Amino acid sequence: PRRGLLAVITALFTEAMHEAFPELAGNPNFRRADVAKCGNAVHGDYQCNSPMAIYKAIKATGRPSVLARPQDVAKALIDSLPAKGHEVCAEVSVAGAGFINVRVQGAYLQARVKDILLHGPQAAMARKLRVLVDFSSPNIAKEMHVGHLRSTIIGDSLCRMLEFLGHDVARVNHVGDWGTQFGMLIKYLKEEYPNFMQDPPNITDLTGFYKAAKARFDESPAFKERARVGVVELQAGDPESRAIWKLLCDISRAEFQKVYDRLDVRLEEYGESFYNDRIPAVIEELKAENLLEEDGGAMIMWCGGKHQIPLMVRKSDGGYGYDSTDLAAIRYRLKDLSRDWVIYITDAGQATHFHMIFDAARMAGWVDEEHGRHRLDHVGFGVVQGEDGKRFKTRSGDTVRLVDLLDEAVVRMTASLTQRIEDGKSALSKSEACEAAAALGYGAVKYADLKQNPGTDYQFSYDRMLDTKGDTAIYLLFTCARFHSILRKAEEEKGIDVKALEAGGDVVLEHPTERALALELAQFAEALQQAVLELMPNRLTSYVFFLSARGTDFLEACHVLTHPKRLVLVHATALTIAHCLELLGITPLTKI
Ligand code: ARG
Repeated sequence: PRRGLLAVITALFTEAMHEAFPELAGNPNFRRADVAKCGNAVHGDYQCNSPMAIYKAIKATGRPSVLARPQDVAKALIDSLPAKGHEVCAEVSVAGAGFINVRVQGAYLQARVKDILLHGPQAAMARKLRVLVDFSSPNIAKEMHVGHLRSTIIGDSLCRMLEFLGHDVARVNHVGDWGTQFGMLIKYLKEEYPNFMQDPPNITDLTGFYKAAKARFDESPAFKERARVGVVELQAGDPESRAIWKLLCDISRAEFQKVYDRLDVRLEEYGESFYNDRIPAVIEELKAENLLEEDGGAMIMWCGGKHQIPLMVRKSDGGYGYDSTDLAAIRYRLKDLSRDWVIYITDAGQATHFHMIFDAARMAGWVDEEHGRHRLDHVGFGVVQGEDGKRFKTRSGDTVRLVDLLDEAVVRMTASLTQRIEDGKSALSKSEACEAAAALGYGAVKYADLKQNPGTDYQFSYDRMLDTKGDTAIYLLFTCARFHSILRKAEEEKGIDVKALEAGGDVVLEHPTERALALELAQFAEALQQAVLELMPNRLTSYVFFLSARGTDFLEACHVLTHPKRLVLVHATALTIAHCLELLGITPLTKI
């Protein structure tokens, strides 16, 4: 695959910089020229901001120079642009206090549009990485809540992008299947169903079961103590406890899977229990490195740099908790699975926990970040709020169940599509309408989440996410369908062979809206790479939103149906919008 436009222009200016100023070639601050998209399209498409910094660096050497002003540096850079640069850059001019504006060659953009028809939207990666994304990770016997929904949606989208770039991605569900809640659940089950071995209870409402067990736990100190012992028995491998544990996990797992199926999310389960047997060796290793401190039977590891915070490596009763498990997990991922990049996606409240785990991994010598071998990230997302800005809950005050929330979005979209069909605005059949309602409903929920900066809190509002005109999945899916239906129409009504356009149709960029659209299409790779590098799916949502807006401008300004050259642009846009939606985990629509 070809490099993105930004990468190509950056490489050109880097070459010019090292040619004109060879003394900077070894300087780490000048490894690459600073090129960015132009803030204002009136001035150009891209700008190079390096001249000022180069000017200062040359001046600092104290060497007399003919370059009296940053503008002279800019001029020297332009003069040194390699000849091939003119295939990409049309107008190159010095502006303001010394930066360079660039407009991209029309012919170059035309070639990129044709590329999209031939190969689909493309983006290259610098180096193939072994990535592991730890996401979703709900807790057994507890309901999956909106926080887990955010983790699932953000994680799945990042995985799709990483996979598309060609990385080797492990999608890991670090299910909470080993926590202290099990002591309570196991003991409660034994007491309520003494015959459970012969006659296993059919628990369909696990949350109700959890609530009942928790009530006994809260009111009876004796039960609380039995529950504590229950955890130790389970972790020590008591067969009866294990059997009950497995029963409970299976029930939860089936419930989680229903949600994943609906959202079309694939995950591999490596729950907390998976690491239980690996923890003792990890503790031995840390002990041998003198990294642990004994404290009344407990084992502690001080992490977090200056503001030292303890990680509980082993509890005083000998048990292992969340910290112990994550220590073993990160070691396993880096050392046994040889992952280059490990990404954790949870609520922002767990940021400290993960930064301590990362710190511990550094102290233990499991990571090599200095040579760029490893990268560790925690993506901490904000809270989902109701429209009143408070914690998201139902009218009756309960926490919102995930399945209900998804159902509601689909129900609303089904109603609005049915209305469209009745009004004669849509030619969808009943079953097509069903599928479309699911794509729209789930798409709307996913998009509303992904378009946020992950770090910020967000207000959940059906009215906003289901708006047909705003920055919503609904608007994008309608636009996607509109572009596809133009192609169908051209074929069916005008007899144009759209498949033949694919093979090598010509495109001309005459109208300004055509050029603006082609430029936007050529920027797909850089939007995607930025989203992945910064772990911000919202970079890709704003890209596809702008692309759709440029596409709509074009359709409004230009007559396309009988112009094969313009249909090429329609086709490239249809493909790119659909592809972006897929990367966001949204099923594209070709008909509405
Ligand atoms: N189960 C946890 C929760 O519900 C999330 C686990 C995240 N992953 C991890 N390796 N700790 O908040």
